[in-house]
Amino acid sequence: MATAYDRTRELKAFDETKSGVKGLADTGVTKIPQFFIQPPEQDDLTLLPIEIPVIDLTGVETDAAVRGEVVKKFKSASETFGFFQVLNHGISTEVLDEMLEGVRQFNEADMELKKNYYTRDVSKKVVFNSNFDLYQALAANWRDTMFITMAPESPMPDELPAECRDITFKYVHYIKQLGITLFELLSEAIGLKRSFLTDIECNKGLSVLSHYYPPCPEPHLTVGTSKHADSDFLTVLLQDSIGGLQVLYENRWIDVLPLHGALVINIGDLLQLISNEKLISVQHRVLANSTGPRVSVACFFSTHLNPTCNRLYGPIKELITEDNPPRYKETTVRDFILHFNGKGLDGRSALDYFRV
Ligand code: OGA
Ligand code: NI
Repeated sequence: MATAYDRTRELKAFDETKSGVKGLADTGVTKIPQFFIQPPEQDDLTLLPIEIPVIDLTGVETDAAVRGEVVKKFKSASETFGFFQVLNHGISTEVLDEMLEGVRQFNEADMELKKNYYTRDVSKKVVFNSNFDLYQALAANWRDTMFITMAPESPMPDELPAECRDITFKYVHYIKQLGITLFELLSEAIGLKRSFLTDIECNKGLSVLSHYYPPCPEPHLTVGTSKHADSDFLTVLLQDSIGGLQVLYENRWIDVLPLHGALVINIGDLLQLISNEKLISVQHRVLANSTGPRVSVACFFSTHLNPTCNRLYGPIKELITEDNPPRYKETTVRDFILHFNGKGLDGRSALDYFRV
């Protein structure tokens, strides 16, 4: 098993530089290391020239008729694509741009400073590394990520790098408010009372995943993020203008085109589980780019690995009928994440393991 041995050694050597993909890209490599090379796609997927819905939230809190229309649009988008974009969501374009800029500045800061945050100890509230599944995945992704747990408990401000400290706290303040609005609209979209999903604490946990995708010399050989579905209840994604995010629809890829000022919303695995598949968690990926860097910030509503959050989540009783029996077993968020992370981004759904 000489090749397997070499691969592990190469991964370790890369990891031990603590410099991530950005460090590698900065050395001016013209060929990407073998362990980034993605196996060819099994299925021949061509790009489908349609766009995911863009939904304007103006008036949802003040006008019942507008709210009714928005609830219908949330329902339709969450049942078909599992993805949509929102506009007039209450967060100013200045705050969005400042958030992206903070992430960029951290990733472009002095490498010695960044190494202080580089770790695989997931019990930490601030975890910066390259590829959370580096040692499990078939191929590494051309991306570095900072994972910050912000709720139910947040780190002390000085635990965050100065480059993105203040803006992260400010951004999260707004995202928590938007989270309530989104879960209320989604509760109504599945025919439940407005406070249903917040009453069962779908918005209790929040993690911020800041991604940095350096320009890649051979973008066609690797990916920025492998095909996956999200392990949370709901994701609010902020992307810059580079593009590359794609969503699977009827076995074809759709581009999620960057729209300045918009936020991308997608249903996570846990919401698919508790809605008994009324809402769907859809696979998506990010292409590697040669023109970047690309920056994105994904806010995951989930208590993730928090050991004090032991609530059990299963298909919501109110949605279950004789014709629509539960499709999943109950699980804690933590057990779900342990299964998801143990598997890594291998292109298969983590939900299969929890099917009845
Ligand atoms: C994720 C994700 C997409 C992006 O963090 O789960 O899919 O554009 N991110 O970075
Ligand atoms: Ni994702």
